[in-house]
Amino acid sequence: MSRVAHPAGPRYADVLPADHPPAPPADLNELSAAVWPRSARRADGVLTVGGVDVRELAATYGTPLFVCDEADLRSRCSDYRDAFGPDAGVFYAAKAFCSKAVLRWVSDEGLGVDVCTGGELEVALAAGVPPEQITLHGNNKTVAELTRAVEAGVGHIVLDSAEEIARLALIVNPDGMTPPAHRPRVLVRVTTGVEAHTHEFMATAHDDQKFGFSLSSGAADEAVRRVMASQDLALAGLHSHIGSQIFDTAGFEVAAHRVLELAVRIRDEHGVEIEELDLGGGFGIAYTDEDEAPEVKLLAHSIRDIVDRQCQAAGLPRPRLTVEPGRGIAGPGTITIYEVGTIKDVDGLRTYVSVDGGMSDNIRTALYDASYTCALASRASDAPAMLSRVVGKHCESGDIVVRHAYLPSDLAPGDLIAVAATGAYCRSISSNYNHVPRPATVAVRDGAAQVIVRRETLDDLLRLDVG
Ligand SMILES: Cc1ncc(COP(=O)(O)O)c(C=O)c1O
Repeated sequence: MSRVAHPAGPRYADVLPADHPPAPPADLNELSAAVWPRSARRADGVLTVGGVDVRELAATYGTPLFVCDEADLRSRCSDYRDAFGPDAGVFYAAKAFCSKAVLRWVSDEGLGVDVCTGGELEVALAAGVPPEQITLHGNNKTVAELTRAVEAGVGHIVLDSAEEIARLALIVNPDGMTPPAHRPRVLVRVTTGVEAHTHEFMATAHDDQKFGFSLSSGAADEAVRRVMASQDLALAGLHSHIGSQIFDTAGFEVAAHRVLELAVRIRDEHGVEIEELDLGGGFGIAYTDEDEAPEVKLLAHSIRDIVDRQCQAAGLPRPRLTVEPGRGIAGPGTITIYEVGTIKDVDGLRTYVSVDGGMSDNIRTALYDASYTCALASRASDAPAMLSRVVGKHCESGDIVVRHAYLPSDLAPGDLIAVAATGAYCRSISSNYNHVPRPATVAVRDGAAQVIVRRETLDDLLRLDVG
């Protein structure tokens, strides 16, 4: 039998993106304060968060498990509130992580909540967030979502399309004859053309994308004209969100400048000064020691300063400034605990450490090529560092949790590892891929743990499948 000769093609290694692992850390057991929750410690070598031993958490609640340091999350709310000051609004972006407990905490801490779907809105209302402290976003809000928001009395609706301006006006004044007693306060979302220095899928203010009204095309000016011409809507101000995981303030500076230029045109054309300027979220956090996330205080100082200067230069009174941090509040205080399963050394290339979750609980590595820090959590080890790739249990070779992880070479099945800074855009973008149930989220504080989102069960999955 003759063998078929295959034409020479590129080798797998040639088509992979450049793979540059960082240098190994000096001490594998050390928990960098920049990356781990504020209460993370090692007690007799074992990781504790909120004073609770991760082995106990795994034994009681199972793995994979999201563990949220409540005090950390609350303290970040007050960091933002204090940094931006009493005259500014801070609205937590619920898309980062949305649960009743968390929305209650942020509301207790004096923040509002930004929601972008009817589902997030229901959770905020169920959590008892005062409706006037809720802002509704979304590039494709349905009639049902807008109606619910109007009936609940949300504080602001951010308009994202010409269609939506008409849709909202029709909801509040169906026959066009009876202007409402309370006109919804609206913000017009402006696309500033800023190319934020972040992953393409996290940048939201360049012209060629789905959100908002473009400034450069004149669509934003036209949207304002339509709102001003409506008797049914009250223009509160302008909104801009340039992207996510941003470390420098240059993008905010350009965005604020361009939005305030529109505010000047609104004053000149309509004789109205905007009351509110919402600059969105996007403030970056440290996922690894290589990330230099700016201090919230410095960031706030810089953004306030930018707005002050721009308003002064434009001869505008300073509108009320609002920001919408999501990742910066929920991201750093949560870790994911996984149990180690298979450990495979592939021909001296690297060691693959498989864990009991993966891309269904953290899609960010596959989606954004995100980097994470992880550590052996159930014990300390003095064994030498082993360059590993932490992978999930899903049927995809892109199912990577941590691309480059230094773990001790005595790592064994049954050990627990923890991945840091998984509070934002992990549980909230989780899926049931391969019918893997979603993990629970447990809040820890002062030595006690409490389930805030229970683990999905196989029964939950089967209940949806009606045969
Ligand atoms: C309008 C808006 N506001 C706030 C946020 C929160 O961004 P981050 O979590 O990066 O702070 C987002 C994220 O996509 C957003 O689209």
